[in-house]
Amino acid sequence: MEEYLRTDITNDKDVKLLVHAFYDKVRQDEKLGYIFNDFAKVDWDQHLPKMIDFWSNLLFQTGRYKGRPFRQHLPLPIQKNDFGRWLKLFIEAVDEHFLGEKAEYSKEMAAKIAASFSIRMEMEQKF
Ligand code: HEM
Repeated sequence: MEEYLRTDITNDKDVKLLVHAFYDKVRQDEKLGYIFNDFAKVDWDQHLPKMIDFWSNLLFQTGRYKGRPFRQHLPLPIQKNDFGRWLKLFIEAVDEHFLGEKAEYSKEMAAKIAASFSIRMEMEQKF
């Protein structure tokens, strides 16, 4: 990784690169890949644009995502430590491509939302 080439997340092209880099990792992960591909049978052509909208809204308040994603995770066979795997891959994807305030903010938001999903799942007695 060449340090001087990394810049911040600044536009939609960057968000797209981040989302694609992250889900490339997710798909290759034994446990997370199973949940997305085999259990949920996610249609990636629909999911990736949705996730680009989600992150573009979080980072740049574009208003492009208005959903409430938590409940869609309840039927999934997610275990507590899967959130750690998810977050590790997200942080890796950010750090491999970007460096800057928005990059840091994206990792903070990912950590906060993953923690809140985990707590809410615990409250729903998922684990
Ligand atoms: C172990 C961790 C996670 C797994 C395995 C997971 C898996 C999934 C799957 C399979 C879907 C597709 C559901 C469907 O369309 O039927 C989905 C949707 C989604 N996930 Fe996750 N997810 C995880 C964590 C997170 C986290 C931490 C966030 C937020 C930072 C997030 C944000 C979303 C969003 C925004 C959607 C789209 C919901 C919609 O259709 O509006 N996920 N996730």
